[in-house]
Amino acid sequence: MCGIVGYIGTKSACPILVEGLKRLEYRGYDSAGVAILNGGRIEIHKAAGKLRALEALLESCAPEGLIGLGHTRWATHGRPSDENAHPHSDCSGRITVVHNGIIENYLALKEQLIAAGHEFSSETDTEVIAHLVEQSCNGDLVSAVRQAVAQLEGSFAIAVIAQDDPARIVAARRHSPLVVGVGVGENFLASDVPAFLPYTKNVYFVDDDTIAVLERDHVSFSSLDGQPVEREIYEVTWDAAMAERGGYEHFMLKEINEQPQALRETMRERLSSYSAGIELPGLNLSIEYLRRIDKITMVACGTAFHAAMVGKYAIEALVRVPVELDVASELRYRDPIIDDRTLAIVISQSGETADTLAGLREARGKGASIVAITNVVGSSVARESESVLYTFAGPEIAVASTKAYTTQLMVIELMALYLAQARGALDETRARELRELLWNIPQQVEVILGDHPEALRCAEKYCNHNGFLYMGRGPNLASALEGALKIKEIAYIHAEGYAAGEMKHGPIAMIDPGVATVAVAVEGRTYDKVLSNILEVKARQGDVIAIAYEHDDQIGKYADHVIRVPRTNELLSPILAAIPLQLLAYHVAKNRGHEIDQPRNLAKSVTVE
Ligand code: AGP
Repeated sequence: MCGIVGYIGTKSACPILVEGLKRLEYRGYDSAGVAILNGGRIEIHKAAGKLRALEALLESCAPEGLIGLGHTRWATHGRPSDENAHPHSDCSGRITVVHNGIIENYLALKEQLIAAGHEFSSETDTEVIAHLVEQSCNGDLVSAVRQAVAQLEGSFAIAVIAQDDPARIVAARRHSPLVVGVGVGENFLASDVPAFLPYTKNVYFVDDDTIAVLERDHVSFSSLDGQPVEREIYEVTWDAAMAERGGYEHFMLKEINEQPQALRETMRERLSSYSAGIELPGLNLSIEYLRRIDKITMVACGTAFHAAMVGKYAIEALVRVPVELDVASELRYRDPIIDDRTLAIVISQSGETADTLAGLREARGKGASIVAITNVVGSSVARESESVLYTFAGPEIAVASTKAYTTQLMVIELMALYLAQARGALDETRARELRELLWNIPQQVEVILGDHPEALRCAEKYCNHNGFLYMGRGPNLASALEGALKIKEIAYIHAEGYAAGEMKHGPIAMIDPGVATVAVAVEGRTYDKVLSNILEVKARQGDVIAIAYEHDDQIGKYADHVIRVPRTNELLSPILAAIPLQLLAYHVAKNRGHEIDQPRNLAKSVTVE
């Protein structure tokens, strides 16, 4: 939800800011803008629409200046327009702000400011910040920002520049991500690390209620009451090329194809050979504690929630501990039964999803130990959890999650096996068998990616259908939901994901020649039942695409199309089933001529409630 960037140094700020915004455009693409401090004046350029509209505008004016801010917007307060695009200024135009988040008390603040004579030029909540800073500013920008922040309620990462204090950028955060990149003779700030990766890998992760001051040669932090705060520099392992398209037409396709490598990276050091046990170095919980827990609660949103659904099946089957699942936005308001014998597993690619963070805090507040599964080192979810198991997927830029999902599944499977091992719930022969199957997964994903003509055929044949039904059972119920989510978010086709056994309780009424059914039909406990469900669809003249194992010679008699995946255990099969579902959605969206990486109305990282 919105991306902010800032630069102070010896180079021309504008191209650096625009390049940073390109790498943050996944966070929102309703409008974009830059503010450059040039010869004692702040020059602002902004445009509604995607970043290319701003780039076109800048071609004719290219502002000079060594300090500046940039913003790419996902609209919350006020429609996407030039006026509502950030940066926003105070009455005099001497103070300029970019903001990611929501100021919940902005209406009350706006009324007070208007009563005090301030004039507003946008419908945004952000503009109040510029006027609040103006109200308190008497030459010291840091103190004015501190006073403004003290009046704000809600979530924000802000960056401010002022004509009267021209040698620094002042930034602050509460519940929205903010990172500072440290260079030589130049410093950067952004909502996410890829924005400044071409320039530095040395990063400070800014804490809530902290003020950051960036000068050309220096960065300092302080608390809201003005006390200096020491922060540690991290060196990130991502490099700039990881955040480039690398010859692929879309980030999504690149990320789909990166899955074998991402899965191997995620497995590395945890499963070094299938004859040895699992090791989870990031898990800071004693074996005694793991034996004492009597419930696991899993919290996440969207695709990460589907990963949690697979986790329920795997953990309950292998560890025999009850697992409760909660969409994070529900958990936080339902007063869940959680105590110190509950282990909470919180899953989030970005580690910044507002609802997931709130769910984490709710679970922690009730005494649960928190294990985070996240892709972003230093993210809020990582920093607020006692144990962190990273998915080493590398930056995921496309809004539709692919490699983050399958690597989340990999961590969950590893964790299920680890817990089973710790609690003595699984005999070694079966554990070893599952470890071997898990070990083979990256190579099996490679096989699917290497050749998938049937997925391409189906994408062509069904791209103009007006509906899709996805069905699956057991752990592949999550696959059905994930398949439906993928096609909805990038192909804009109405799709439902259903437990196959539920079809006859309603959704089967939707079957008609314009609706295709995708059935995840890998052999396992309920395979025969899924075959019956396919027949029920066929009996109503519906077309069925089945995702099934290679050498399954029955399925061809039931389904119109079969997309094959290599054999594995049913509990692990959602990792393999995900690949054709992603490919199908991608190619359907492509055949429909969609933008794919930046679907309408969405943003990658949902940092507002
Ligand atoms: C998936 O394709 C989505 N874009 C979305 O559902 C996403 O998984 C969800 O917003 C959660 O994000 P997170 O993993 O960063 O918390």
